[in-house]
Amino acid sequence: MKETFEFCVAAAPSSTANLGPGFDVFGLGLDLFYDKVSISKLATKNGKLRIALDNNASIPSKVRENSASLSVMKLAQKFKIKDDLEIKITKGVPIGLGLGSSAASSAAAVIAFNELFQCKLTDNELLDFAAEGEVSSAGVKHYDNVAASLFGGFVIVRSFPTLQFIKINTPKDLILVVCVPNLVTPVKKTKVARSVIPKKIPIDHLTKNLANACIIVSGFFLQDTNLITKGINDIIVEPARKILIDGYDKVRSNALRSGALAVTISGAGPSMIAFTKSTKNASKIGNAMEQGFVDSKIQSSSYVCHPSSGAKVISKY
Ligand code: HSE
Repeated sequence: MKETFEFCVAAAPSSTANLGPGFDVFGLGLDLFYDKVSISKLATKNGKLRIALDNNASIPSKVRENSASLSVMKLAQKFKIKDDLEIKITKGVPIGLGLGSSAASSAAAVIAFNELFQCKLTDNELLDFAAEGEVSSAGVKHYDNVAASLFGGFVIVRSFPTLQFIKINTPKDLILVVCVPNLVTPVKKTKVARSVIPKKIPIDHLTKNLANACIIVSGFFLQDTNLITKGINDIIVEPARKILIDGYDKVRSNALRSGALAVTISGAGPSMIAFTKSTKNASKIGNAMEQGFVDSKIQSSSYVCHPSSGAKVISKY
């Protein structure tokens, strides 16, 4: 039996990125699904990492291809950790469906590592190491999902000239309806979804998206859900990506017809997310979204949730 000296377990929530016009900049933690990551220090010191999947999740098991272990590998290099480590991942966030699955794993891994080795990382450092994990699935470091998963609430992230994020608490009446199609997506789905985005855009498209993004930020600052949802309209990325989502138009129109205040692709898709203030209407919106996917012969499940408060250490020994 392997000998374990110490371990730490952390949990991190699902998230939705972009919120329409905030491509790679906006994120929102979702109190819906959680990944748990446990990091154990083994008795040997060969600087080795190994991954153990707790619930047979079909995620990469090679260290450089898995978001949690990639983040841990970078942290172990930075802190010159020689202990052999076992990273146990319990997936709760659906994989490859636009709910920040890889980000939840790396956010939980970074929080667990920081606690286990008492690294005292700043929030920006936690964010940067968690984003390292995103390279495994998106091909680039993007910070929106990891920031939302780490810190919860609504986050705005800027990565140049230096990394910076702002977290804003969410209005109490903000309710999210997430519709998750029952699909298996390609391993590098985010990379594919990024490849269809236009490389050049007309300046008036930029102006419209920027105006919408400013409305969203103002809505969060003013804690005004109506205002937030007025800005959830993306005319650059979403029109290019909707071709990747069978049923997109129907899901969207059904949600709006059932009283949703706004609807958009969750992250890189294919899940869709609607926004409402009405608890009564939320399940009606969800059913209508599911029906939109059924018209394209796709089964889906809808969930009603609120924003999440972020990643946490749940046990340490
Ligand atoms: N901002 C990223 C994208 C999120 O839309 O590609 C991916 O989850």
